[in-house]
Amino acid sequence: YGDASQKMDYVFKVVLIGDSAVGKSQLLARYARNDFSLDSKSTIGVEFQARTLLIQGKSVKAQIWDTAGQERYRAVTSAYYRGAVGAMLVYDISRRQTFDHIPRWLEELRGHADKNIVIILIGNKSDLEEQRAVPTEDAKEFAEKEGLFFLETSALEARNVEDAFLTVLTEIF
Ligand code: GTP
Ligand code: MG
Repeated sequence: YGDASQKMDYVFKVVLIGDSAVGKSQLLARYARNDFSLDSKSTIGVEFQARTLLIQGKSVKAQIWDTAGQERYRAVTSAYYRGAVGAMLVYDISRRQTFDHIPRWLEELRGHADKNIVIILIGNKSDLEEQRAVPTEDAKEFAEKEGLFFLETSALEARNVEDAFLTVLTEIF
């Protein structure tokens, strides 16, 4: 009983992963609060934010989990992935190394998460076009090969952030 407007039809857990400083926390801040900070601190442990949205007339609570890219600050791996139905695998288009590490993140994800998890590969910081170190085509090709969705985003400019989350949430639905 209670307020019918508060009734939730679905709760979806989505996890963010990727190297330190690729912009995971700022993507989440942008999506959950339309906020962005240039002097974002490294995440320690795990943080959550939720956003409620309507998909085909049903209320969906997206519960987004964010942990540190740095090994020593990370959440307990198995607990982090438990129950996740979506994952966002993030690299920074201006730092090649963060893209080169994606296969490792994918391996960890596939080792711990449900096999039906929906995964999107995200090339963040698309506003840094002049410093681009990862061609869009390379990432697109990798995503196709691995069966992942793919988008380039900018948390700073709020470009494609909404779309990225919506792609995952709609596909889960
Ligand atoms: P960890 O918590 O250490 O794993 O890092 P993170 O992936 O959460 O990175 P965070 O969101 O803290 O962002 C790291 C830095 O990149 C901060 O200085 C952000 O302001 C900056 N940043 C994040 N997104 C963007 C973006 O889209 N464009 C630009 N230019 N900078 C960004
Ligand atoms: Mg963070």
